Amino acid sequence: MKNILKASSIIDVKIPALKDQSQTLARNGLRPNLNVILVGNNDASLRYVGNKEKFCQKIDAAFSLIRLPEDVSENDFLNKIHEMNTDPSVTGCFVQLPVPKHLQHLDITQLINPDKDVDGFHLNTVNDLYMGRLDKIIPCTPKGIVTLLKENNIKIEGSNVVIIGRSHIVGKPLCLLMQALNATVTLCHSRTKDLIEHTKNADIIVSAVGIPHLITKKHLNTIKKQILIDVGMNQLDGKLVGDIHFADVEDQVEAITPVPGGVGPMTVFSLMENLLKTTEIILQKRKS
Ligand code: GUN
Repeated sequence: MKNILKASSIIDVKIPALKDQSQTLARNGLRPNLNVILVGNNDASLRYVGNKEKFCQKIDAAFSLIRLPEDVSENDFLNKIHEMNTDPSVTGCFVQLPVPKHLQHLDITQLINPDKDVDGFHLNTVNDLYMGRLDKIIPCTPKGIVTLLKENNIKIEGSNVVIIGRSHIVGKPLCLLMQALNATVTLCHSRTKDLIEHTKNADIIVSAVGIPHLITKKHLNTIKKQILIDVGMNQLDGKLVGDIHFADVEDQVEAITPVPGGVGPMTVFSLMENLLKTTEIILQKRKS
């Protein structure tokens, strides 16, 4: 019988430990404090940031949203990042992406203080992952996917993992993380020839391309017990759907993540884990 890999069953169990850790850090002198800059009024971004704020409340961490107008000057924007980077009470921060066009020439992920890089996008953090240092900050979506697999006792070591999508946020870092965990990884993308040939060979398929219902029964192997992870968050006929056609494939798979309620919440959960980690490291540095 197929197994639906829901985030809630993992998160509900793990939140109390994260809250304990957050309160211990506060008692020791540094309360976890996440600051987010949001430029403009993008509905999806507002929703995502709202989810992050709710999670901070759940683990008793502080949270501030710094909202800037759509037409903010580059100078004001850079000054806000500098304030966030240097404020000693802030222990984790990022700029919610995407930003308006007139700011897109800036290499925003490199402007974030690497000590507070809870997204895991700064090149210092990327280098840690490249070198296979798994005790450091790991980008949130890849980290959430691995937590979801491990908590469901799904073996990664030695598995054939096929990732569809080569973004900086998901595909590429997930490729590095899975390799570090001893999986055999195939990174597919929009120009891949014969995607089906790759997906049929996979033990684990991760789709992160943002094409609604890309993956259907014809991509699957009827003999293998395959695990499907859906990172897609697409609007189709007014509904949120993933990259995987859930109804078409659900009877053929060993396990599958739902959309919503799968990778999305695991990503925010990982962000909280990263916030606790950056706070801990900042506190250690200050004490030494
Ligand atoms: N926009 C959508 N997802 C993300 C994310 O994980 N981090 C940032 N900074 N912006 C995003």
